[in-house]
Amino acid sequence: MKRTTLCLAVALSCVAASAFASDSAEAARSGAERSFRDRDPRGIPAPEFPKESGAVSAPRAAGPVKAAFIGDQGNGAAARATLQLIKAEGAEVVFHQGDFDYKDNPEAWDGLINEVLGPSFPYFASVGNHDMKAWPGYQQKLAARLKRISGAVCDGDLGTISTCRYRGLVFLLMGVDLMKNNDYPGYIRKQMAGETSPWKICSWHIPHYLMQVGNKKNVIDWGVYEECRNAGAIIATGHEHSYSRTRLMKEFATQQVASSDNPLRLEKGRTFAFVSGLGGDSIRNQFLDGAWWASVYTAKQKANYGALFCTFGAPTANAASCYFKNIDGRIPDRFDLLSQP
Ligand SMILES: [Fe+2]
Repeated sequence: MKRTTLCLAVALSCVAASAFASDSAEAARSGAERSFRDRDPRGIPAPEFPKESGAVSAPRAAGPVKAAFIGDQGNGAAARATLQLIKAEGAEVVFHQGDFDYKDNPEAWDGLINEVLGPSFPYFASVGNHDMKAWPGYQQKLAARLKRISGAVCDGDLGTISTCRYRGLVFLLMGVDLMKNNDYPGYIRKQMAGETSPWKICSWHIPHYLMQVGNKKNVIDWGVYEECRNAGAIIATGHEHSYSRTRLMKEFATQQVASSDNPLRLEKGRTFAFVSGLGGDSIRNQFLDGAWWASVYTAKQKANYGALFCTFGAPTANAASCYFKNIDGRIPDRFDLLSQP
């Protein structure tokens, strides 16, 4: 890591104000849609969802805590509806994988969150390419919110190369492929070394193009995927405006599936990745497919806006239940996790 200074939160001077990464893939949408087999979102049998209170008897390192994962939010009615869904589902923390309001308006973006979820709601974010221009302002809002979140601790440069802990969850908020000077694989390896929490999350905005199903062209360093996999950390991304989730993977660079079973058994060397990019801005079509996908939910599957929800730490500390729900109440994906840290 070249920028080694621990410039927590308010040290905005740490922000790389450079490199307004262009979203070239978005400009390349004119290409003809490739023909892939039609399929409905994968219908994994719905598990019995554990009760979220009173069900845990064993000592636990995490939760239960219910998290919502979103990205690519926008600032219109769909963004508001998605936040309202998050509130209605009883999520206790939001992880935003970047691309906030697309308006470079930190005040309005933060204001909408405050209006729907409240000013002290635990809301953590990774920088997106559309957040770079006004990033100091967004980071300042996130840092101010962090101070109001009881029990949350972060170090590093918040949202670009940072590690946070909250209610037993350990999450790395990063700007992979945006902050070009950072050694993200090295950072992940260092931060995850010796980590014993069953619930580790790597959060960044831009997926490798083979780890999304749209027409993004980003060829990012597989090292970030493999280091998170080595740690057994969940990989949360956005950028493509659809939802897709891999099976349990044993290598991302070669798209090798470890297992298609449910629950997914996370351990060192085994994890999954997802794109949750239906936060409100737009809904895009499916252009790619592959045997490593467990669930695909795009315009082709008539997707609507929504969020991925995971309840970590129930009914036991190393168990979790997840589902993607849209603002119409439809649930196109459900799965369970067991983590062996
Ligand atoms: Fe993006």
